[in-house]
Amino acid sequence: MSSVYPYAGHQDPQIHRIMLAELQRQEDQIELIASENQTSLAVMDAVGSVLTNKYAEGYPGRRYYGGCEHVDEAESLAKDRLVELFAAERANVQPSSGSQANHAALLALAEPGARILAMDLNHGGHLSHGHPKNLSGITYEFFHYGVSPKDERIDYVALRKQANEVKPTVLLAGASAYSRTLDFELLADIAKEVGASFMVDMAHIAGLVAAGVHPSPVPHADVVTMTTHKTLRGPRGGAIVCKKEWIKKINSAVFPGMQGGPLMHVVAAKAIAFGEALQPAFRDYQQRVVENAQALANGLQQRGCRLVSGGTDNHLMMVDLRGPEGPAITGAVAEDALHAGGITVNKNLIPFDPEKPMLTSGIRIGTPAVTTRGFTTDDMDSVADWMNRLLRDPQNSELQQRVRAECLALCQQKPIYPQLRPESTLC
Ligand SMILES: Cc1ncc(COP(=O)(O)O)c(C=O)c1O
Repeated sequence: MSSVYPYAGHQDPQIHRIMLAELQRQEDQIELIASENQTSLAVMDAVGSVLTNKYAEGYPGRRYYGGCEHVDEAESLAKDRLVELFAAERANVQPSSGSQANHAALLALAEPGARILAMDLNHGGHLSHGHPKNLSGITYEFFHYGVSPKDERIDYVALRKQANEVKPTVLLAGASAYSRTLDFELLADIAKEVGASFMVDMAHIAGLVAAGVHPSPVPHADVVTMTTHKTLRGPRGGAIVCKKEWIKKINSAVFPGMQGGPLMHVVAAKAIAFGEALQPAFRDYQQRVVENAQALANGLQQRGCRLVSGGTDNHLMMVDLRGPEGPAITGAVAEDALHAGGITVNKNLIPFDPEKPMLTSGIRIGTPAVTTRGFTTDDMDSVADWMNRLLRDPQNSELQQRVRAECLALCQQKPIYPQLRPESTLC
C-alpha cells in the first residue's frame, strides 16, 4: 500500500488512483497556466484537516453554532494576517471563491440594476465582471471598457470619457488576462470624478501586490477582492479587504448574502498561506516570478512570437498566434500541441479576436507555478525554445515526444513535492 494519501488509498482505490495520477501529472509537466500554483504541504495539511467537519455560520465571537472556539481563533488569525499583508483597514476571509468574493462585493456596493463599469471580458476581464450569463451580468447593468487597438493597453482617456457618460455606481478594475501594470491611482481618480465607488479585483496579482512588486490598490479602493490560490499561493478560495466604512456591508453580503457555513479548513489554510506571504522569502519568490515572466517573454519574442502589448510587467503574457510572424494556428491547436509536448497552457481570447472563445487566436501563459518549483531564467529560455518549436510544427508527434522527454528531464531535476515521491508509488 502506498504511503501517499494512505486513507484514500485504503478506502477508495479508484479515487486514490486519480489523486496519484494528478500528482504525477503536476510533477511531470511544465505548468504555465497563469492562474495556477502549488501550495505548501502546510496549506494542504489544513485543507485535509478535521476543520472540514465544523459548521461556523457567522463571524468569530458571533456564530450560529456552538463549539466554534477553535475555528474562531483560526479565522481571526487569517483576518489579522490579511490585514497586515495588505496594510488594509478591514478583511473578510470567508468567500469560498474569487467569483463569490466579487458577487459579495457588488452586493455590498450596489443595488440590483445599478450601473457597473468594468473591463471587457474579450480584452482580459473576468466572467464575474458582467458576462450576460453570469450572476453579475444578470443582476446589474454592466458597461465595459477595453484596451486601445494602438498599443493594446487600457485606454484611460477613453475610460474617463466613458465613465462620465455612463455615471456608474461602481467602477471595477482588475483582469484575468492583462499583462500590464494597472494604474490604480488614476482609476480611483476617475471613480471619484464620476461619484462611483471604486472596486478592484486583484485575483491574479494579489501575490505580486503583497510582495510590493505591483502597486497596491488597497490605499485607493473602497473594496478589493482576490483569489487566494493564484500568485498568492494559498488554498483555492477568495478574500476581501476594504475600508472600514464598508466592512459591515461586506460581512453581511458574504454571510448571509452569498454563503452559509464558511469552509473553515480552507480559512485555516488561508491563514497559513498569509503567514507564508508575510515572510521575506515570499518577496524573493514574487520577484523571481516577474523575472521569469520577462525571460519567457524575451525568449518567445527573440524567436519571432508576437506578444499582446509587446510584453509583460507582471506574471503573465498573451501570445498572439496569428500571422505573419505567428505560427498561424488557433489557441485550441496550440494548447493541444503544447500539451502533447509536456507544457500546459490555456487558449485565450486576445483583444479584438476574430475567433470564438473555444478556438481563440491566443494563449495565456504565466510563471507563478514554475517559479514555485525552482525554474530559473535560463530554464525559461529553454521553455521558450520548446514552445516555439511545438507551435511552429503542431502536428509533428515525433517532435512532441522529443520535447516531452526534455521537459520531463527538467521537471525531474526540480520536483514540486519531493516528500510525496509519486514515482515510488506509481510503479
Ligand atoms: C480576475 C479574476 N477574478 C475572479 C476570478 C474567479 O475566481 P474563482 O475561479 O475562484 O471563482 C478569476 C479566476 O480566474 C479571475 O481571474
